[in-house]
Amino acid sequence: MSKVSFFSGEAVPLEMHKVRIVQKLNLVPIDRRLEALNEAGNNTFLLKNTDIFIDMLTDSGVNAMSDKQLAAMMESDDSYAGSTTFSKLENKIKELFGKNYFLPVHQGRAAENIISRVFVTPGTIVPMNYHFTTTKAHIMLNGGSVEEIIIDEGLEVTSDCQFKGNMDVAKLEAIINKNGADKVAFVRIETGTNLIGGQPHSLENLRQVRRVCDKHGLMIVMDASLLADNLYFIKTREDACKNLSIREITKQFADMCDIIYFSARKLGCARGGGICTNSSEAFLKMRELVTLYEGFLTYGGMSIREIEAITVGLEETMDEDMVSQGPQFIEYMVNELARQGVPVITPAGGLGCHIDAKQFLPHIPQSQYPAGALASALYLVSSVRGMERGSISEQRNEDGSEVYSNMELLRLALPRRVFTLSQVKYAIDRIVWLYKNRDLVGGLTFVEEPKMLRFFFGKLATTSDWQSKLMAKFKADLGSDF
Ligand code: F0G
Repeated sequence: MSKVSFFSGEAVPLEMHKVRIVQKLNLVPIDRRLEALNEAGNNTFLLKNTDIFIDMLTDSGVNAMSDKQLAAMMESDDSYAGSTTFSKLENKIKELFGKNYFLPVHQGRAAENIISRVFVTPGTIVPMNYHFTTTKAHIMLNGGSVEEIIIDEGLEVTSDCQFKGNMDVAKLEAIINKNGADKVAFVRIETGTNLIGGQPHSLENLRQVRRVCDKHGLMIVMDASLLADNLYFIKTREDACKNLSIREITKQFADMCDIIYFSARKLGCARGGGICTNSSEAFLKMRELVTLYEGFLTYGGMSIREIEAITVGLEETMDEDMVSQGPQFIEYMVNELARQGVPVITPAGGLGCHIDAKQFLPHIPQSQYPAGALASALYLVSSVRGMERGSISEQRNEDGSEVYSNMELLRLALPRRVFTLSQVKYAIDRIVWLYKNRDLVGGLTFVEEPKMLRFFFGKLATTSDWQSKLMAKFKADLGSDF
């Protein structure tokens, strides 16, 4: 995929796979979309798939599966204990990550629950390059706190920095020196840093973090959910790794981590998750919680069929043609939007294209949730569903005051091998139209606000009748209800 260039000079991401099973999509008229938004309280999580044309909410559990994955699912060994299917996954983890102990869980946050319950105690700190919503919630639930020590470039919207997901190693040293190593539960690195735009960290950065952790006797816990994209970026952006295979990079990467956990809804293109380590002590501490919360140790809450698919999916992640598809489609979308003046996070990362709502809608204050308003407006004018990754995704302080996020982003995820280039072009077209009409977009306010993870179920209302005006302008400009 990355090797083919076009004679025309145009940068076109070329698929190294073909489509063999399809799902029909719905495109409902804009009046219905307005109704659907009202029903969903302007929360794109609450929209129904029948009202959605292009679902860019997430890459979680919705990546396309390969023929080999589907074939493997047919030969799964469905037994409660001692399943051959589970052994295959355990062996694949050993082969790729070099870890002898594997614990299955039903998805990524289940791994976070178990790791946090075992290693986070009240008053401890977890330094990390950046948090993920469910990770932070689990750490806090166990009385710990999160210290984000991403490098400064990580929070700059536009940048040339190739590894914006790197951890600031000097800040890590400072936290340890200030609090004492015994107050640090572990150091967490999130590969392919989700909330700052799917930005990668380098292998060299991980090496530096490892040195600090060795000095102070601390564990590195790696969230490898977005490993596939990060592997591609290490291979293509890190000079020292250009001649390494994806498999070799994976091994070097894993050797530096004490515990690796992942959501197999992302890594491995199926549905499930897991935790692996070489520490028998850590394994034994976590093992009993797996049986308590997840299921027996040879399925961990996953369907056996999915376990077969994950094993094949992990092997397929070692193929450069496979891991390059997502980042190259995202790069196309990001570069095209940037070319047309739309504020997007650069350089393009993994996971999806991220629009900077603070710049897109500078007239909407953070108290009226610009990223949420943008998600709502884009759905209205395109039937493309994105996800708010801004202040709505934060949790209020104990005293009820808002925590305003560093970035107000609209994430448009590109699940791997799912959309065609013309669908991506449609999304770009509607985003550009919305950008030209951005003054018509107004803010949102909560009408129903859950205390925990409010972005999942919360409902919001518009602060004025801006959606009707936007709809009228759309119909006038496009001359159609679509
Ligand atoms: N860690 C990271 C980096 C993630 O992106 C996710 C999920 C999780 C952990 C939790 O995994 O969903 O299997 O329980 N991210 C999804 C997303 C939800 O849409 O970005 P899970």
